[in-house]
Amino acid sequence: MRKNIVAGNWKMNKTYAEAQELMAQLLEYKRNNTTNCEVYIAPPALYLTKAVEIFVNGEVGVFAQDVSEYASGAYTGEISVDMLKSVEADGSLVSHSERRTFHGETDSHANRKVKALLDKGLTPIYCNGEKLEERKAGRHFEVVKNQTETALFTLSADEIKKVVIAYEPVWAIGTGETATAEQAQEVHAYIRSLIADKYGKEVADEVSILYGGSVKPDNAKEIFSQPDVDGGLIGGAALKIEDFTKIIEGFN
Ligand code: G3P
Repeated sequence: MRKNIVAGNWKMNKTYAEAQELMAQLLEYKRNNTTNCEVYIAPPALYLTKAVEIFVNGEVGVFAQDVSEYASGAYTGEISVDMLKSVEADGSLVSHSERRTFHGETDSHANRKVKALLDKGLTPIYCNGEKLEERKAGRHFEVVKNQTETALFTLSADEIKKVVIAYEPVWAIGTGETATAEQAQEVHAYIRSLIADKYGKEVADEVSILYGGSVKPDNAKEIFSQPDVDGGLIGGAALKIEDFTKIIEGFN
């Protein structure tokens, strides 16, 4: 179901004590403020159980940053969907650009991970987006089309409605080079049109599509005001409570 979402991808940051402090600050904020969006965090996997314990009443959704496509077995270092479900996590990011860059993840891997999460009732946040050279060559629509079709278009209509998509142009991640609201809107609208062509407009209008890539307190409101932008996947600015909460208030 389509909803406004602000999700924080903490990446490889925070000690356990620092993570608990930020989670406690976020809980305090949620208890004392009405938000016009759902709020999720994706902390390091080590901290998932503590996050679920702190947000015991579901104040904040708790997501892994990656998940294995395999159910169990000899996959050293990987974490399965069943493990996430057993600690009551809500889902996982899938195919973030840093997994693609540093771990060779592809949209075929993403397809299997998204399906594995959906099969066990967990929510995938599927990440895609073009590289700088692809944007400069005017190939961003072609790239995002191939990514989206490979990763998602084996799903049923009911399944794809449960997927959260995060469009994150790689050239905007961690660079301070935020896409303009118009650039974000045109790609979000394009992704939604691809889904509409395949599954129909009614299904496409049910899918939440987030923007990620240097979202900050001073640009969140304009980006979130775009008709096909349903929120943001936030990196650096998610690590400071004052910045993350100002971004959440971008929906006010
Ligand atoms: O997953 C979100 C992340 O890639 C965006 O990072 O630091 O540009 O907000 P940042």
